[in-house]
Amino acid sequence: MPHRPKVIIGNWKMNKTIAETKSFVAGLALAAKESAFQIGLAVPFTMIDTAAKTAEGTVIRIGAQNVADRDEGPYTGEVSPKMIQDAGASFALIGHSERRRYFREDDAIVNRKIKGVLKIGVQPVCCIGETQEERQSGQAYSILKRQLLHGLDGLEKEDVASLIIAYEPVWAIGSHQVATPEIAQETHAFCRSVIKEKWGQQVADRLVIQYGGSVNPMNAAALLAEPDIDGLLIGNASLSLEAFTNIVLLHV
Ligand code: 13P
Repeated sequence: MPHRPKVIIGNWKMNKTIAETKSFVAGLALAAKESAFQIGLAVPFTMIDTAAKTAEGTVIRIGAQNVADRDEGPYTGEVSPKMIQDAGASFALIGHSERRRYFREDDAIVNRKIKGVLKIGVQPVCCIGETQEERQSGQAYSILKRQLLHGLDGLEKEDVASLIIAYEPVWAIGSHQVATPEIAQETHAFCRSVIKEKWGQQVADRLVIQYGGSVNPMNAAALLAEPDIDGLLIGNASLSLEAFTNIVLLHV
């Protein structure tokens, strides 16, 4: 069995203030010392600097929730890969379903963003997932395959092995309708097979694939116990220090 780290990332979405960020990260740092997992927090742009400074000297990594698909220039309101890195982000969520849905990000944009961050050594967490209708009509795997092959198009083996894929079924996000460990495991195994077909066994064995969607302290352990689930991307439950701490302190 290939050994992959288990990675737990909190995605705060559009929540929290700078003061709340400081106390949350300081509190999490205590639990992080005892955790068996790699831990990250994807925070709003305005909190990256504070979160990264508070996390200094701990194992907690700070990331952005989005990034521009260009390097610099006249793009009012955008934040570049270099800017998030400069502020202290070592990873960036890319192609989250909320960005695909509300901000019309497509696979081509996702692909440009992934290449943009990889170029400067920021780790992409590429989010993919099917909608309820797509699953019910039997299209889930073809959608996921398209998102993977188009999103990662043109990447070298080493780059693919170094990034994280987050499988987040749209129907499970913020819905209290978590995927069963069986469905999540089966879907992760499918995603890994797509990667193997295109980039080879070694890359597929190394690639970290996280699950996201209505994860909480009650259901996290069963998901983490599955062989192809290499971690969790957590929205709502990452806003509560108590809930998030309970997850990072699980023994699986
Ligand atoms: P919830 O955990 O709130 O369902 O959100 C999942 C998610 O979108 C993480 O990126």
